[in-house]
Amino acid sequence: MGEIAAIILAAGKGTRMKSDLVKVMHPLEGRPMVSWTVEAARGAGVSKIVLVVGHHAERVREHFAASPEIACAVQEEQLGTGHAVACALPALAGFTGRVLILCGDVPLVSSATLQAMLAQHKESRAAVTVLTTHMADPHGYGRIVKDAAGHVRRIVEEKDATEAERLVTEINSGIYCVESDFLAAAIPNIGNDNAQKEFYLTDIIGQAVELGLSCGSFPVADPDEVMGINDRVQLAKASSIVRRRVNEELMLDGVTLVDPSNTYIEQGVRIGRDTIVHPNVHIRGATVIGEGCVIDPSVLIQGCRIGDRAQIKAGSVLCDSVIRNDVAIGPMAHLRPGSELCDHVKIGNFVETKKAVIGEGSKASHLTYLGDATIGRNVNVGCGTITCNYDGVHKHQTVIEDDVFVGSDVQLVAPVTIGRNSLIAAGTTVTKDVPPDSLAIARTPQVNKEGWKLRKAKG
Ligand code: UD1
Ligand code: CA
Repeated sequence: MGEIAAIILAAGKGTRMKSDLVKVMHPLEGRPMVSWTVEAARGAGVSKIVLVVGHHAERVREHFAASPEIACAVQEEQLGTGHAVACALPALAGFTGRVLILCGDVPLVSSATLQAMLAQHKESRAAVTVLTTHMADPHGYGRIVKDAAGHVRRIVEEKDATEAERLVTEINSGIYCVESDFLAAAIPNIGNDNAQKEFYLTDIIGQAVELGLSCGSFPVADPDEVMGINDRVQLAKASSIVRRRVNEELMLDGVTLVDPSNTYIEQGVRIGRDTIVHPNVHIRGATVIGEGCVIDPSVLIQGCRIGDRAQIKAGSVLCDSVIRNDVAIGPMAHLRPGSELCDHVKIGNFVETKKAVIGEGSKASHLTYLGDATIGRNVNVGCGTITCNYDGVHKHQTVIEDDVFVGSDVQLVAPVTIGRNSLIAAGTTVTKDVPPDSLAIARTPQVNKEGWKLRKAKG
């Protein structure tokens, strides 16, 4: 298609968000709003992106620091969308081709729509093509004014519109495709003689018409795609639109969502067939879940890789961990980053793991903390076992070899190694390594004082 550049307008403060954070950095389903627009542009084949930033410019710049194809142009004062594009043009000096202009607060536009608009633009040899939609309530948007033949004549802002123009329901999405040479010529001619005393980008349409150039419109069927986000009510609406799309795709791919309107799965999460997800489950980041799993209510999973047939029971929290096949977790278990559970592991209620590798078939069924630990196969970790991994300065490792039985209420003071096939008696505080095939017991012998209660009662 030839080279395509994009300008993304994101300098506005977003006053109606009533926030200390600039609007375009507010998270939409886990990612800043503006990064949705950036992804849409990338997906449409854009090779260079100029972000126009103003308020909190540094935060936006930092977020995209690792992307060399994204340049930031600073617009010190927000004098209007036309002025914003003027600020971006120096960063595109020497570029010829088509320029997509997008808004950082219109995040739901799809790459497919942008590609279709670009194709029509090229086909029709227009100087400008504007992405539009029909809205039942066009209030607040610029209206598309067309001539009798259906050619776009100009775009008029609501505040500048006549009564008749306000009745138009085809609105300007704020997204355009423009030929770079025409854009460079038109931008300096924009004035600010309008109700808001702003430099309106939309004026370039009128200029093209005067020059006898063709202006097209590309209407998108689903108005949701071009909804602008100005306040937190619209932000919540956009979130629910994204969630609905993600959930429907998963269900059509064979995942059961018991109550999709109360299931919160971020875009990019992958889930296998015949997995069942109960209500109020949150699945985030680059999580991958296998087939035939059951995720109980009120579970939070972030950045995990989970195999097939996992049972994740109610109230569990799993972060940045690897879980292999046929594992049972919870209820109320907490897997912190770096946990790795091999096949057939069981982690029960009120068990916390962190940087812990737990071998095949091993179990920690109740009330346990396993941190900085390497645990072999077929190990039984009794109720109330604690790895004492931190001495206040350093973290230390605990190693438990295969087939060890750890009784209840055991403290393992790290660094320490328990040799294979040993038994640690209940109530033991282990401070020395235990050789294989041994019994380790460390507790004060019990004393029974018979009749003591009766003597005490007599005084
Ligand atoms: C704009 C369009 C309107 C369209 C609507 C769609 C103009 C004159 N009007 O109106 O026709 O229906 O978008 O949502 O273009 N921005 C800057 N610098 C500025 C001003 C704005 O970067 O000086 C950015 C904003 O951060 C925002 C975008 O441009 O991302 C749109 O600006 P906004 O003020 O929201 O324009 P609207 O009044 O909504
Ligand atoms: Ca807006």
